[in-house]
Amino acid sequence: MCSATRCATRSTRGTPSDVAAILSVANLHVTYRRAGAHIESLREVSLDVEAGECVGIVGESGSGKSQLCLAIMGLLPADAHLGGSIRFADEQWLSAPRERLERVRGAKLAMVFQDPLSALTPHLKIGVQMGEVLVNHRGVSWTVARAAALAMLSRVGIADPARCLDQYPHQLSGGMRQRVMIGMGLLCEPQLLIADEPTTSLDVSVQAQVLDLLAKMRRDFRMAILLVSHDLAVVAGLAERIIVMYAGRVVENARARDLFDRPRHPYTQALMRCAPELGGPLLARLPTLPGQPPSAGERLEGCEFAPRCAYATEHCRRHRPALEPLEDGRLVACHAARPA
Ligand SMILES: Nc1ncnc2c1ncn2[C@@H]1O[C@H](COP(=O)(O)OP(=O)(O)OP(=O)(O)O)[C@@H](O)[C@H]1O
Ligand SMILES: [Mg+2]
Repeated sequence: MCSATRCATRSTRGTPSDVAAILSVANLHVTYRRAGAHIESLREVSLDVEAGECVGIVGESGSGKSQLCLAIMGLLPADAHLGGSIRFADEQWLSAPRERLERVRGAKLAMVFQDPLSALTPHLKIGVQMGEVLVNHRGVSWTVARAAALAMLSRVGIADPARCLDQYPHQLSGGMRQRVMIGMGLLCEPQLLIADEPTTSLDVSVQAQVLDLLAKMRRDFRMAILLVSHDLAVVAGLAERIIVMYAGRVVENARARDLFDRPRHPYTQALMRCAPELGGPLLARLPTLPGQPPSAGERLEGCEFAPRCAYATEHCRRHRPALEPLEDGRLVACHAARPA
């Protein structure tokens, strides 16, 4: 089934009516209490990821992308209060016992972090870190685990995998570390790989290599990917569907082609204007989006984007728009984007 049809079959909460999603997030809220203040990092977030699908998540810094990834992984801080539902592989994730989460995490569900140096354990050799994943999740011997780690390093493009197994993270380049992280995530052949800004700390040519590697691994392992970036260009080449987040909410959820052809939320339009144009003049200054998003502790009555939106009316400032389907099946939270 094509993504447009899929979107059309979703309810207004973004939950599928007749499609089996491998991941289904519905009305997810995450709040913290800090010094008497109520901080909401995620507000009414709903989305689905189908088996084998690549979904991109974009949004400015602070829009809640990492909070969403960590919530799905069950890795939010202990004082985070979660509401709503996260279903992964037909299991209710929020109420699952901790041991169950630990078993599934790293096996069916894996995550690649923005900064592989801090995600890898500094005092353990790569071979030990990779081996542990297989020994713990698959119950194999260390000899088998080492052989599998070696094969995986070669698969993710490490030129001298045997040497790499005996190195510490700080002895590798940024690109190699990210390849190791991806390889480590894939050891148990997960159904879903969450990649949170996997290329941000890399230079442009290594960034392209890592994205190519993710695309290849996705084909080889037939896994779904949730690819997070603040940069639309990064998700453009890989994602079939793109979810745009603003101030902890989903504001647009569309097939990638539709989103690039015709962004419908004013925030998505602004993000596109701020992205560099392929083949555009090298020295051209990129426009920036004026103003700041509301802080996670601020609660506005109406649309959170209204203070920065050129089309906002009094109605927008007073009434928050729901995430609703448009005529082409995409979901948009904007009064101005509604079909007549
Ligand atoms: N432990 C925490 N306690 C309270 N608030 C938090 C905590 N972690 C994150 N937040 C808040 O949640 C909001 C979203 O943070 P998040 O890290 O998800 O943003 P992001 O979209 O990933 O940004 P970036 O692009 O910079 O990585 C932020 O406003 C932040 O202040
Ligand atoms: Mg982040």
